[in-house]
Amino acid sequence: MFAQVGVIGYHGAMKSVKLLVVDDEAQAREMLAGYLSNNGYEVTTAPDGETGLQLYEQLFSPLALIDMKMPGMSGLELLTRLREINPFIQVIMLTAFGSVETAVEAMRLGAFDYVTKPVEDLDELLVRLNKAARQNRLVVDNQVMTERLAEAFPKTDIVGESPQIQKVREMISLVAPRDATVLLTGPSGTGKELVAQAIHALSDRAEKPLVTINCAAFPETLLESELFGYEKGAFTGADRPKQGRFELADGGTLFLDEIGEMPLTMQVKLLRVLEERQIERLGSVKSIPLDIRVIAATNRNLEQMIAEKLFREDLFYRLNVIKVDLPPLANRGGDVLLLAERFVEKYARKIGKDVRGIDRAAAARLTAYEWPGNVRELENIIERAIVLTSSIYLTEDDLVGLSEAAPASAGGEIRPLSEVERDHIRFCLDQLDWNLGLTAEKLGIHRNTLRAKIKDYGLTRPE
Ligand SMILES: Nc1ncnc2c1ncn2[C@@H]1O[C@H](COP(=O)(O)OP(=O)(O)OP(=O)(O)O)[C@@H](O)[C@H]1O
Ligand SMILES: [Mg+2]
Repeated sequence: MFAQVGVIGYHGAMKSVKLLVVDDEAQAREMLAGYLSNNGYEVTTAPDGETGLQLYEQLFSPLALIDMKMPGMSGLELLTRLREINPFIQVIMLTAFGSVETAVEAMRLGAFDYVTKPVEDLDELLVRLNKAARQNRLVVDNQVMTERLAEAFPKTDIVGESPQIQKVREMISLVAPRDATVLLTGPSGTGKELVAQAIHALSDRAEKPLVTINCAAFPETLLESELFGYEKGAFTGADRPKQGRFELADGGTLFLDEIGEMPLTMQVKLLRVLEERQIERLGSVKSIPLDIRVIAATNRNLEQMIAEKLFREDLFYRLNVIKVDLPPLANRGGDVLLLAERFVEKYARKIGKDVRGIDRAAAARLTAYEWPGNVRELENIIERAIVLTSSIYLTEDDLVGLSEAAPASAGGEIRPLSEVERDHIRFCLDQLDWNLGLTAEKLGIHRNTLRAKIKDYGLTRPE
């Protein structure tokens, strides 16, 4: 049997692509092998599925050309078995003329392509094989890349064992595979963006982009052109056409962060897009169809905003198909310490310090604290602690910023009001990760007032 197995066309130093050809008809097999080995392939042949499979364990070629109809193991079965050994293999099936159904079945089982027998157009076969070879390289490179990325950034999974977080995780796996719109609610720093990423990553759209837009980050007109894109000449300054984020997210997921900050006029436009699933760029009448999944997030109380006529009720119902509410960190019990441990590990590695955990007193402090800035605040505090500490286990002293806001008169010293205000604003900004909208809200002042004070006091965002 092995007498019929041959390796032909090995071009020494020239890099040829390994290919397995399995066909029970000797003449067809030799003809294909001869032609392909003259065209850059290192061909190994086998007369039946069993032999092909046996050879493959050593060969591990990226490509195979398999006859569909053979005595013994069928081509389809061989296809399945080879893909079990090497999920990246690209297989072209040889099918009898007119047997479209089996060809379709082969594609369903993961064949890359099929060619009808007898093969008359050898050049065409070569084109398809070259395409399969390219596909294999793409898939393998992609996999290698993904693995490397995973090593560089260990998957930021959602930490926590509290019933509340378990429920969130359950919701994620439930809604991810569906295309339903999701509304993420919860106070600042509770993990809404993390959950949006998880939903996208677990969905069928994972290979396509997750495009984020922070609605609070743009003034109204800019928000519109960011979302919709524009044609050249749509407005002064539009000197070239630009794709908007709706278009960029096509096939994937659009994450509308801080949706509560979206101006009412934009809300109307967004609603229309969600209903019609198509957009026009600014300055264009051409409709572009959209296939997007929408996830929106907010730390505002939208129901209350509706009552105050600041948010459209109809848009709310469009977005609120599935709601996932992220609880404040202080309500998650033991999760505080689980998260703290995780962040100790993360930042000890990142900063390159040998810190292994948290001592008992520090752990008690973390557990008792209120966490107004939630998980983000915890993460910041641990990062700072790792930078500062000189011990192996973090102590209470390392937990800088855990105390409530800066006392107005520390140690009985009388301080000017402006200094207290400056310190308090800086404290709040740091706690809320320099989210101006939220900081202004918490301080009970207008965002523009906050901006002015930041400028007056010369406050800058630490990095
Ligand atoms: N359960 C969790 N496990 C691990 N990390 C978390 C978890 N929740 C949040 N984080 C981390 O905390 C930080 C803040 O989370 P995220 O940005 O998702 O919050 P958010 O709810 O979007 O906040 P905001 O409303 O201010 O935008 C991020 O670095 C995130 O990775
Ligand atoms: Mg966020």
